Amino acid sequence: MGKGFFINKTVGIVGIVLAAGAIATIIALSVVYSQEKSKNNENEVKPTGAVTTPVPTTEPSNEPWDQWRLPQTLSPQTYNVTLWPRLQPDATGLYIFRGLSSVVFRCVEKTNLILIHSNKLNMTLQPTLTALGSKPAPIIESIVMHTKTQYMAIHLKDELTAGESYELYTEFVGELADDLGGFYRSEYYENGVKKVVATTQMQATDARKAFPCFDEPAMKAVFHITLYHDPATVALSNDKVNITVDDTFVTRTTFAPTEVMSTYLLAFIVSDFGFIEQNIDKLQIRIFARQEAINAGQGEYALSVTGTILKFFEDYYNVPYPLPKSDQIALPDFNAGAMENWGLITYRETALLYDEEISSNGNKERIVTIIAHELAHQWFGNLVTIRWWNDLWLNEGFASYVEYLGADKAEPTWNIKDLIVLNDVHRVFAIDALASSHPLSSKEEEIQRPEQISEVFDTISYSKGASVLRMLSDFLTETVFTQGLQNAFVYSQPIWYVAINNAVQSVQDIMDRWVLQMGFPVVTINTETGQITQEHFLLDPETKPDRPSEFNYEWFVPISWTKKEAAQPLYWLLQKTNQVDQMKISGDEWVLANINVTGYYRVNYDNENWERLLNVLQTSRQSIPVINRAQIIDDAFNLAKAGIIETTLALRTTLFLASETEYMPWESALDNLDYFYLMFDRTEVYGPMQTYVGNKVEGLFDYFTRLTNWENLPPGHTDQYNQVNALRVACSTGLEACTTLVKTWFEQWMENPNVNPIKANLRSAVYCSAIAAGGEKEWNFAWEMFEKATVASEKDKLRAAMACATEPWLLNRYLKYTLDSNKIRKQDATSTIISIASNVVGQPLAWDFVRANWEYIFKQYGGGSFSFSNLINGITKRFSTEFELQQLIQFRDDNAHIGFGSGTLAIQQSIERTTANIKWVKKNQETVLEWFINPL
Ligand SMILES: *[C@@H]1O[C@H](CO)[C@@H](O)[C@H](O)[C@H]1NC(C)=O
Ligand SMILES: *[C@@H]1O[C@H](CO)[C@@H](O)[C@H](O)[C@H]1NC(C)=O
Ligand SMILES: *[C@@H]1O[C@H](CO)[C@@H](O)[C@H](O)[C@H]1NC(C)=O
Ligand SMILES: *[C@@H]1O[C@H](CO)[C@@H](O)[C@H](O)[C@H]1NC(C)=O
Ligand SMILES: [Zn+2]
Repeated sequence: MGKGFFINKTVGIVGIVLAAGAIATIIALSVVYSQEKSKNNENEVKPTGAVTTPVPTTEPSNEPWDQWRLPQTLSPQTYNVTLWPRLQPDATGLYIFRGLSSVVFRCVEKTNLILIHSNKLNMTLQPTLTALGSKPAPIIESIVMHTKTQYMAIHLKDELTAGESYELYTEFVGELADDLGGFYRSEYYENGVKKVVATTQMQATDARKAFPCFDEPAMKAVFHITLYHDPATVALSNDKVNITVDDTFVTRTTFAPTEVMSTYLLAFIVSDFGFIEQNIDKLQIRIFARQEAINAGQGEYALSVTGTILKFFEDYYNVPYPLPKSDQIALPDFNAGAMENWGLITYRETALLYDEEISSNGNKERIVTIIAHELAHQWFGNLVTIRWWNDLWLNEGFASYVEYLGADKAEPTWNIKDLIVLNDVHRVFAIDALASSHPLSSKEEEIQRPEQISEVFDTISYSKGASVLRMLSDFLTETVFTQGLQNAFVYSQPIWYVAINNAVQSVQDIMDRWVLQMGFPVVTINTETGQITQEHFLLDPETKPDRPSEFNYEWFVPISWTKKEAAQPLYWLLQKTNQVDQMKISGDEWVLANINVTGYYRVNYDNENWERLLNVLQTSRQSIPVINRAQIIDDAFNLAKAGIIETTLALRTTLFLASETEYMPWESALDNLDYFYLMFDRTEVYGPMQTYVGNKVEGLFDYFTRLTNWENLPPGHTDQYNQVNALRVACSTGLEACTTLVKTWFEQWMENPNVNPIKANLRSAVYCSAIAAGGEKEWNFAWEMFEKATVASEKDKLRAAMACATEPWLLNRYLKYTLDSNKIRKQDATSTIISIASNVVGQPLAWDFVRANWEYIFKQYGGGSFSFSNLINGITKRFSTEFELQQLIQFRDDNAHIGFGSGTLAIQQSIERTTANIKWVKKNQETVLEWFINPL
């Protein structure tokens, strides 16, 4: 044994208690406890935010109202908020809401300034200040609105007294705009009648658009909410209704006071939606949606899984569900996928509504995983909350990990936990291997402005967070991991400190390396010498990481491995390189590491071992777990991209697919070949590549023809996915049996639009293929069906498929539609443009379109919108020429004055990616062409 040490996995590297403490530590480092049971204790009431003096930024002034963070002088206790959204436009055509709000706050440190967030609200009355103690309140000297930093600054003649409480009362009016942020409106048609819903999206910084508030996650308070609304509508909020008072013209609904909570988790909704419900013990579970969708039974699936998942999380956290009700609502206009508002979760329709006949199994999986994700937040995120947005990864990474556990409870036959490897680990590897990546945890002072906060809602936070926590759970064992988590909900602060100061250090040390430095290692195992080495993996080896790392880009790497099929004890690589004699092979042995990709790293081997693995794949692939068959492909392709192994070696990992029928290896290969398509579909490589892929997929297509004759569903969940892959790829490579099948189905549908003969799972692939092969007639038919569709997931399939058209004028017309919200909803605009850009014909059109309309798109869709980085990455991902790089740089410079909002980092990443693509194509085009002509 070398200098590293072996640890028996079942024992874990530390005892249960210590490890439990370690997780508590990790959580404690960034969590505010809402269970402030000892509210009367002076010390406990202090806000727990870490910054006590404002952090100077690049701002010219040091005045508090020029800082992006609130001073720690005041601490909100309770709010009383009354809002009245008008679902009809006023005389000037404007949709508005009126509001009254009072906030009781305690003065923590004497001050003559009240700074409270307020954005785009017009005060209709001079705000008033009342003292709740014995001394009178100071007189208000002046009130200044700071639009840039989004504050209302109230300057006082005298100082507020520390320890005293005050009440600030405001009356205001705001616009109920269709901008998807704060208190906003969503519109839809039902039986030809236009309906308006008033709803909210507060995260991250838009509660201040609904009422003046101390809008930071650690500034928790109790909220008394009242909504005025039309008697024909229903009002919903985080808690149950306390009283409803009906007047002739208006109903007043008052809700029970909330738990102590953050502003970003509030929700207020007025609609005439329908609902279905179920009661489990005393807990009321309801699903709300458009009447038509509820009547069609589209909420049933969500309702049927929610109870199971909630019960699962109660056990998992060992804490009862914290609220008396759980509402979930599907909104026609919604920017993100879903939002975990406490007790009133909001969704995009496609993320909640399911139709047995029309929705695919992919739609179903999305629904169950998103529900599990949002329900997981009801404890982790809502009950315990991050102190500031720089630790968002903990909140989102955790929910993104346990969503698989919750979904697995609801759909135990799906093997859904395996899919995290494709959906999160492989996906984020691609981004985290860039020199411009960033660590999971950012410094508090780096995340200040609203658009910087939006930017941390990225793949790193979600998918790397999930991957790293899964690794932690794996090496600690799940029992130890959950025990630690449960303790975090139980213990109060002093106990975590004890934990930090104990031997827990080792787990903390391990995690610091994954959390505080960006990127991940590639571990190279030389089975000839027994040498094992780690190195920071960068897709473009000529780049240097943008930032230094205090750990020198070395990690503590848990290496699970097998020799042939025999599992070996977990090995910890704690330094750059080490000698491990056990990893030498002889005879017909081979080594496989990172079993099931539970570790967040890639693996490389000496040539001899690679050859042996290729041979096993070809001759007895079952000896390698299915997840690792996908891993070998993904690692090889990415190692090749980084110039570490030959590109032809990577291509050879796909040879065994001729006999593979499992989804994960296929999906992994198709994902990686997709890059070859992006780089080469405008070159002479295209033809031979199509022939090669066509040859490989023919076997799979035949397999599913025999298994299902395209009439039945394959039995397994992932087999259903692979059936879709078989059809999609067979058709796109021109297999005649496939194109004929698809053409026939689509024609049948066009002849009789009321009966769609295409199986739900296959629709995306069939629509795309038929529209690509068709012309104006097919496109217009699809558009008509899109407009008629009443199931959101069906609309989405058609919307994506219309981007498959091959006639430029059709695509250009479609691009124009994306800026007309009567045609394409705002929430769908960027993803439609991205779909068009993925089409080789549409790519240059989409790029021209975005460049020409950047200012308009940016203003309409807002600098804070989460989808901007997707848009930029999406339209530039095919870039691989010097000319395109120049255009991209020009685009960045030309629009510097307008800005890129949450897409700022994406621009930098795109430039880096394009540079790497140019080099890669230059280096590989010849070899790849030859290999596809003669694949061996
Ligand atoms: C909240 O404000 C409304 C309207 O001003 C008032 O009628 C109500 O009594 C207040 N409730 C609480 C709990 O302060
Ligand atoms: C708020 O005031 C501004 C400036 O007077 C005005 O343009 C805007 O329409 C007002 N908003 C509402 C909702 O009344
Ligand atoms: C309902 O409102 C009444 C009157 O304002 C109040 O006394 C009571 O505590 C409230 N109940 C709940 C459950 O909030
Ligand atoms: C790897 O994953 C498969 C599929 O989920 C599972 O059956 C197997 O037990 C896992 N292997 C290990 C060593 O955990
Ligand atoms: Zn989340």
